[in-house]
Amino acid sequence: MVEAVVGVWGSDRVGVRISPLNSYNSMRDSDPVGLTRYVAGALNRFNLAYLHLMRADFFGVQQADVVSAARAAYQGTLMGNMGYQKAEAEQAINDGQLQLVAMGAVYISNPDLVERLAHDYPLAQPDSSTFYTQTAEGYTDYPAYSA
Ligand SMILES: Cc1cc2nc3c(=O)[nH]c(=O)nc-3n(C[C@H](O)[C@H](O)[C@H](O)COP(=O)(O)O)c2cc1C
Repeated sequence: MVEAVVGVWGSDRVGVRISPLNSYNSMRDSDPVGLTRYVAGALNRFNLAYLHLMRADFFGVQQADVVSAARAAYQGTLMGNMGYQKAEAEQAINDGQLQLVAMGAVYISNPDLVERLAHDYPLAQPDSSTFYTQTAEGYTDYPAYSA
């Protein structure tokens, strides 16, 4: 699949996202670390924009250190996500474990997330009960920070 997409767009315009631990929709793997190592290693031959790794399980069922496995196997730009706060994200980047950190759920609840991180303003926590609603509620009604 990566070969096909890279053939159309060029490898540096393609990123791959893997979620080896996530048990969402009953997904399971008998060896998530081995799977991560294999997939990350196999992707080295493409000059991808990034490999994006979801580091944990939404439901906490499957637990393992897939970040270390991916870092050891993958030589390109590695992006991590899931539950990172600013300090941990900066640490992971400074240590060279990751080149990028993505923040998802807190971007829903903080429309000005970048400004809040830059100024160390407190973050609003997302309300998961409005994640999949069909209206503005939970999507566009979180306010920007005001002191
Ligand atoms: C409302 C919502 C929808 C999501 N939809 C998807 C999806 O379609 N595919 C996917 O791989 N991950 C999806 N995710 C998971 C996020 O990409 C991300 O891995 C997760 O929120 C953990 O990272 P975070 O702590 O930075 O939010 C979704 C998350 C949320 C909150």
